[in-house]
Amino acid sequence: MSGNQLTDDQQQITSQLQALLRRRIQIDGPMPFSEYMHACLYEPELGYYVNGLSKIGAGGDFITAPELSASFASCLATQAAEVFNAESFQRAAGCDILEFGAGSGRLACDVLKALDQQQSLPDHYLILEVSGQLTGLQQELLSSELEPRLHERVQWVQSLPTKFSGVVLANEVFDAFAIERFTVEHSEIQRVFVDYVYHDNSESRIAEGGTAETLGGEYSVPEDGCFVVTTQPDKRVQEVVENLQSSLQQTFAPGYTSEYCESLHPWWNSLADVMQQGLILICDYGCEQASYYSPSRNEGTLRCFFRHGVHNDPLVYAGVQDLTADVDFTALTQAAVDAGFELEGYTPMTQFMLGNDVLQHHQAALVNASEREQIAATGRLKQLLLPQEMGERFMVAGYSIGLQKPLRGFSLADWSRLL
Ligand SMILES: C[S@@+](CC[C@H](N)C(=O)[O-])C[C@H]1O[C@@H](n2cnc3c(N)ncnc32)[C@H](O)[C@@H]1O
Repeated sequence: MSGNQLTDDQQQITSQLQALLRRRIQIDGPMPFSEYMHACLYEPELGYYVNGLSKIGAGGDFITAPELSASFASCLATQAAEVFNAESFQRAAGCDILEFGAGSGRLACDVLKALDQQQSLPDHYLILEVSGQLTGLQQELLSSELEPRLHERVQWVQSLPTKFSGVVLANEVFDAFAIERFTVEHSEIQRVFVDYVYHDNSESRIAEGGTAETLGGEYSVPEDGCFVVTTQPDKRVQEVVENLQSSLQQTFAPGYTSEYCESLHPWWNSLADVMQQGLILICDYGCEQASYYSPSRNEGTLRCFFRHGVHNDPLVYAGVQDLTADVDFTALTQAAVDAGFELEGYTPMTQFMLGNDVLQHHQAALVNASEREQIAATGRLKQLLLPQEMGERFMVAGYSIGLQKPLRGFSLADWSRLL
């Protein structure tokens, strides 16, 4: 990564965030990895999703399904329309869409256009976004691309509405939730922490705090020391990991490192408090628990994205690189069911899109396109559909409350039994 020079803005943000993290570690001791990741992503003004730097698209760090092809939005719209038009759906109680983490706004824009064409518009399209910078981009895009009669349905909200009925969308949002990391040392389960060590060792707390073992990688050296990964035993983490091992009927081998997400239950519980009827569609990189914790996946799923490159060192570029971990769809589903939702289906992206007429949407969108545009658009669609690209690495799960209807997105293949 040595060829990746930071811009002045990036350098300023990462230096400020690293200074803050160093100070916290000096005061409180080694920081649980979950807190470190949360700060890197969400620290006010400095975190990756909060600071003003570019993230999505060619000038950012990653690209998402709605940015690749509008057919993705058309498929989600087709699925939403089926719900809105179902006999069991009480439109009078409200018929809205709520999108979590709307990125550039591309998905919102294209879903509204597609629902308009399908004559199934929602009353409102609510966006709950944590990033001020992305909210600004969304507002710009939606006001420049949507006709006023569509644009007037869009509202940005700071928290969940008090009542909600309709369809909830979350595309690549759960993989941005901070995760707790663990590792097995000898046969002991350890919680992963981040510490800061000084080169002259004068102020190192590692001797008191943990084992000073780094889990691989060379770390950047801000100021006169560097961030390192350390470990400590922790009752809560041990309990969670022991439960995982017993439900998987497997013992993680020494050296096995992975993660889990503590925010799933709170997220579903708060949605259950307000949601009266409808469908929640979660689209993300991930898999079922048995694959997530397969013995060969012994370094976990945490990945770092910086300028479209992927690497596995979360300790560099704090605040200017994206940190993401795959979704454990079994844990996600357990938390949804515990909160009172029903699992409607779990299927790879390809099957979900084929079940929602992706090929027809794609053809319709290209009617007036030049041959060159058709080739480019078909290439981008392939990225979504081919199994080795996003097709089978990217999953869609649907959860419902108060719906009695099999859904077309899960009609071609439903892998729920794997969860
Ligand atoms: C990887 S981007 C995906 C953006 C968009 N959904 C797309 O597919 O292009 C993650 C999005 O989720 C937002 N986000 C992250 N954590 C969130 C949270 N806890 N609640 C709501 N939005 C969140 C980010 O600001 C960003 O808009």
